[in-house]
Amino acid sequence: MDVQESLQHDADVVLHHGDCRRLLEHMPAAFVDLVVTSPPYNLGKPYEPRLHIQEYLRQQQIVIEECVRVLKPSGSICWQVGNYVENRKIIPLDVKLYPIFESLGLRLRNRIVWHFGHGLHASHRFSGRYEVILWFTKSDQYYFDLDPVRVPQKYPNKKHFKGPKAGQLSGHPLGKNPTDVWAIPNVKANHVEKTEHPCQFPIELVERLVLAMSPPAGVVLDPFLGVGSTAIAALMHGRRAVGAETDETYLDIARDRLRAAEAGTLRMRPMSRQVYDPANPTANVPPQTVSLGRSLQQEVFRRARQCVAH
Ligand SMILES: C[S@@+](CC[C@H](N)C(=O)[O-])C[C@H]1O[C@@H](n2cnc3c(N)ncnc32)[C@H](O)[C@@H]1O
Repeated sequence: MDVQESLQHDADVVLHHGDCRRLLEHMPAAFVDLVVTSPPYNLGKPYEPRLHIQEYLRQQQIVIEECVRVLKPSGSICWQVGNYVENRKIIPLDVKLYPIFESLGLRLRNRIVWHFGHGLHASHRFSGRYEVILWFTKSDQYYFDLDPVRVPQKYPNKKHFKGPKAGQLSGHPLGKNPTDVWAIPNVKANHVEKTEHPCQFPIELVERLVLAMSPPAGVVLDPFLGVGSTAIAALMHGRRAVGAETDETYLDIARDRLRAAEAGTLRMRPMSRQVYDPANPTANVPPQTVSLGRSLQQEVFRRARQCVAH
């Protein structure tokens, strides 16, 4: 298998080593169905220089403008961010970034709160246990399919007790809307998906976005790809994936993870798994391995081989 870098319009996966701005400038307008990303938070992590907040926002704006240009009119952008911290003050990046999206005419559909259980223990404020996904659409005619991401009803057998529907199930048979608060474990040291990347997001977080916001065979873009969580989630569900990453080490890990998915050996936390409940350990099912499915695998990597590096 040989996954290469340059943009092929019909490729199933494109992993670009380099600045996402170089990848984006080669991309035609209205090419992408969904953008899912977690950009650098300007925290001085090994992969990011710490910038003045205004310079950080200026750089983010350049990428966001390009993402909007390459997005189809029916498309969505999911920008997953936490807080920037300066002199012990927190600056919520979604609040800072919202005006950029708004000025580009995007429409906010949800501000999804991603709640998780592990993180730093603060001593001068409450410990932070959530981050945010800003979900924007480019227009009012946007792709959205709730059914694949419905979650089990709390009382699945509950019935209407009066009126013309008396005796019929009152909840949707496929489950309920997962709401805009998602409890999904973050990828810390003992998470089955953990790599050496300090800030990868869980594949199941992206799966829900991919399934609800992109059509089958659609194109999913992650301009800040990291170790490829978005690409894996997209390919697992029969979408195409495009991503850029400046750090070759992380990109190598992304390639390895895609190969493991191809071989059916990539271990990951399944989307349907309950958050660990110490009071009910039998409900805690083990992680599963993921396979991309034979025909897709062959197609993905056959086409990837045709890509020519810059
Ligand atoms: C928060 S991490 C994303 C992690 C990713 N969601 C995952 O699950 O692996 C941001 C990534 O963006 C990369 N990066 C920073 N600036 C970049 C740029 N201009 N173009 C492409 N990648 C960049 C960093 O190296 C880092 O791996």
